[in-house]
Amino acid sequence: MRHLLSTADLSRADAVALLDTAEAMAQTQSRTIKKLPALRGLTIVNLFFEDSTRTRISFEAAAKRLSADVINFSAKGSSVSKGESLKDTAQTLRAIGADAVVVRHPASGAPHRLAHAGWIDTPVVNAGDGMHQHPTQALLDAFTLRRHLSGGEGDLAGRHVVVVGDVLHSRVARSNVDLLATLGARVTLVAPPTLLPIGVGAWRCEVSSDLDAALVGDVQGEVDAVMMLRVQRERMTSGFFPSEREYARRYGLDAARVDRLPPHALVLHPGPMNRGLEISAEAADSPRSTVVEQVANGVSVRMAVLYTLLAGDLAGEGVA
Ligand code: CP
Repeated sequence: MRHLLSTADLSRADAVALLDTAEAMAQTQSRTIKKLPALRGLTIVNLFFEDSTRTRISFEAAAKRLSADVINFSAKGSSVSKGESLKDTAQTLRAIGADAVVVRHPASGAPHRLAHAGWIDTPVVNAGDGMHQHPTQALLDAFTLRRHLSGGEGDLAGRHVVVVGDVLHSRVARSNVDLLATLGARVTLVAPPTLLPIGVGAWRCEVSSDLDAALVGDVQGEVDAVMMLRVQRERMTSGFFPSEREYARRYGLDAARVDRLPPHALVLHPGPMNRGLEISAEAADSPRSTVVEQVANGVSVRMAVLYTLLAGDLAGEGVA
């Protein structure tokens, strides 16, 4: 694997290998001394053209726990605000000796361009591009699901995940549908028709606009997990339809809906959450919620991704 740009590029074997490596990394994170020497002497640049809390901090923690040097670049306060192009920014990174670039960008396809335009020759990791892909989010979601539903091993064959909300603007939904299907899970997308993308019928999932039917298993059988998506008001150019009140009533996960889930079913959200809109405080903070665990798992998954791209072999690294 040279880059990680999209979960659609991962075979089942690639995905399981990354999840297995993340599991090994997670074991090291319970030690007193968490740091591994694997990437000592390498420099990883976090190139963020869009806001982030979890992803940026998580990549920084992952790189540092592998002993890499980290340079954090935020478009705010940089020469991007003076009109500098992605190409010139990339060439600046090459000049300072970056060994890998982690990029978040509002334009779908920007990480692909960075990886393949010939401006730099380092691995590129997509940390979220526009409405397209967020592969490490999907990997950490699959890692969380696998730990709870498959004993932390193998794939998610036969499991059923319901993904709910603003699918239209969601790179998390696209990445998850691709990865979960590759791992053998059934996926049901639930959204108002106005928040579904054109062409969703060709995705590897079922689509419904009836949340209550999906949650009780009427669409594809018993539910193992429900993944709520953030309503992305910042990407809505023509207002938010339906109204927020109507949205919360029809598509929000509240305590009553959580109570109707099978006893083992999990509640996921990638964060940041709009509490009271797509998820109530009771649902977000319920014992079934894995929201905080997902953030912790993100560090192990991103360690696995950086390790796989830059070192590739666990032998001799002190990984359990
Ligand atoms: N889930 C996620 O990508 O969160 P951030 O935008 O805070 O990185």
